[in-house]
Amino acid sequence: MKALGIEGTAWNLSVAVVDEKDVIVMFSDPYIPKEGGIHPREASQHHSERIGELIKKIFSVVPIEEIDVIAFSQGPGLGPCLRVVATVSRFLALKFNKPLVGVNHCLAHVEVGRWKTTAKNPVTLYVSGGNSQVIARRGNRYRVFGETLDIGIGNALDKLARYMGLSHPGGPKIEALARKGKNYYELPYVVKGMDFSFSGLVTAAQRLYDSGVSKEDVAFSFQETAFAMLVEVTERALAYLDLNEVLLVGGVGANQRLQEMLRIMCEDRGAKFYAPPKELMGDNGAMIAYTGLLMYKHGYVTPLEDSYAKPDFRIESVEVLWD
Ligand code: ATP
Ligand code: FE2
Repeated sequence: MKALGIEGTAWNLSVAVVDEKDVIVMFSDPYIPKEGGIHPREASQHHSERIGELIKKIFSVVPIEEIDVIAFSQGPGLGPCLRVVATVSRFLALKFNKPLVGVNHCLAHVEVGRWKTTAKNPVTLYVSGGNSQVIARRGNRYRVFGETLDIGIGNALDKLARYMGLSHPGGPKIEALARKGKNYYELPYVVKGMDFSFSGLVTAAQRLYDSGVSKEDVAFSFQETAFAMLVEVTERALAYLDLNEVLLVGGVGANQRLQEMLRIMCEDRGAKFYAPPKELMGDNGAMIAYTGLLMYKHGYVTPLEDSYAKPDFRIESVEVLWD
């Protein structure tokens, strides 16, 4: 069985075809803001201008006749971007008479991670631009055990980077700077119960930079503080839920220092650490195709009237009918 997946909740417009075993083909066309951060209307314009070409390229590799189901990222994400993806997906389903499956973007990050690692029942740390959550499955639902009370960690990294004159996306640039940092400056460490928050930390780091501290030391101090918060909550979830696997997903998961801190925590507790390949960590069409395939095989089809964009779609609202 093969599924076509279309992702375009924010910066990355990405289209892929997968079968049960692997990614067959994936083409992506990221939106990169000329200045500042992601502008929702500009991003959606980019998606609507480019999506036709990507679909054509995909069909030249895998013809539509071979595709069993069309999966699309239904939310959460930026409204204008989601509407482009939903409209194009609906059109394809109607034109070629194929079933349609609306996929929760967060669920797709988790499932592609389970698909491409041997993690079975992990505590998942999902860290991206818009989201930061600690997730684990309980029965037929994924539950969020802890999450950011304000902005996502990726968004926080991007904001700090922009403030220090670096272009979007800032995460990888902060990582490179932090590697050269030598001195740790204390910054606000905010964990409340199982939740955490980053916006006060961003402001404090900006003040540190204003006071003349080097970019390298600011980046280093920021990463050490923010990542320690994420690792603490992940560890607590492992202990409370009595689980022994950690899965890292989302664009920020590419960060080597975060991976290292999680690996050390896991080794200390006798838990196993997993992360999928980098190209499947950030937003990508394959994760939508794969999750859509899984859902379709377990009876899910999204009727046209329910295929509208869901900017606030929560992972808990999806019933998980597979192992
Ligand atoms: P979501 O809709 O799930 O919130 P997203 O649109 O933010 O996803 P992702 O691709 O999951 O997209 O994540 C993008 C984020 O990852 C950006 O904030 C970017 O700066 C950050 N990022 C990418 N690489 C790194 C890295 N090496 N270190 C830290 N952050 C990174
Ligand atoms: Fe994402």
